[in-house]
Amino acid sequence: MAYEKKKCWSILLRLYHWAFALSIVTLCITGFYINSPWTNSMTEGSASWPMAYMRFVHFVAGYVFTAAVLTRIFLYLFGNKQERILEHLPVTPRNIKNLFSTILQYSYIQDSHDPDRLGHNILAGITYVITIAAAVFQLASGFYMLFPEIAIWEKYGVMIFGSQQMARYIHHLLMWWFMIFAFIHVYLVIWNDVKQPEGLISSIFTGVKFTHKA
Ligand code: HEM
Ligand code: HEM
Repeated sequence: MAYEKKKCWSILLRLYHWAFALSIVTLCITGFYINSPWTNSMTEGSASWPMAYMRFVHFVAGYVFTAAVLTRIFLYLFGNKQERILEHLPVTPRNIKNLFSTILQYSYIQDSHDPDRLGHNILAGITYVITIAAAVFQLASGFYMLFPEIAIWEKYGVMIFGSQQMARYIHHLLMWWFMIFAFIHVYLVIWNDVKQPEGLISSIFTGVKFTHKA
């Protein structure tokens, strides 16, 4: 069967994806450490000072994460057709139809999908938009904890989260969203790659997908 190559993701989207994914892995590991250090407290007084090191790595990864989120918001507005936000949400009859057919496909009730659709399916698209919204709260709570004395963070931090402790609690709870998302996400991209030979996984490296030649 003949296949056709179609350009799907820009280089900026692919860079954002990997910056986002790798920073989240780093932030979860260092975040767990900050919450509950697993080294002996005697080492805190030594030259290695693991808590300071872990916090430093957390903040560097936090800036990478913030840059990735801002890049994604830029692409929601100014990216290519597949990358814009309206292509992710059930706001047109075609997208609503895609949402239902994806749910039926994921439940093994129906085996067809929208062959002409190049970008994400709508179920994935909605989940990604929720994830980016959660990321905005994650970085806002992170910067509120990091710079509590800066007027802007103090003002909006108090308005959105109330106390520092509440911000920390929300920051911690949101971490679980990212972790659960990551596991289900990796499972589903592999599942989709097996079901539909369009080169889904390689597309997040190369930017190219394959469709059947008419
Ligand atoms: C997916 C992204 C992130 C995850 C999963 C994450 C996770 C965590 C966790 C689990 C903690 C420990 C809180 C606790 O349970 O006690 C923490 C603390 C913290 N995080 Fe994040 N974080 C993320 C993003 C960020 C960002 C973008 C910043 C901003 C630079 C940031 C700044 C902080 C600060 C300042 C603390 C408190 C450190 C301390 O109390 O010593 N985090 N983070
Ligand atoms: C081995 C690891 C990973 C692989 C192979 C992978 C692969 C992919 C692929 C193929 C897509 C496009 C899927 C589609 O069209 O619906 C995608 C999108 C996405 N991935 Fe991953 N991913 C990985 C890890 C992660 C991790 C750890 C995160 C964050 C927790 C993540 C977050 C996202 C997001 C937010 C999108 C949507 C991109 C957008 O905003 O348009 N990925 N990934």
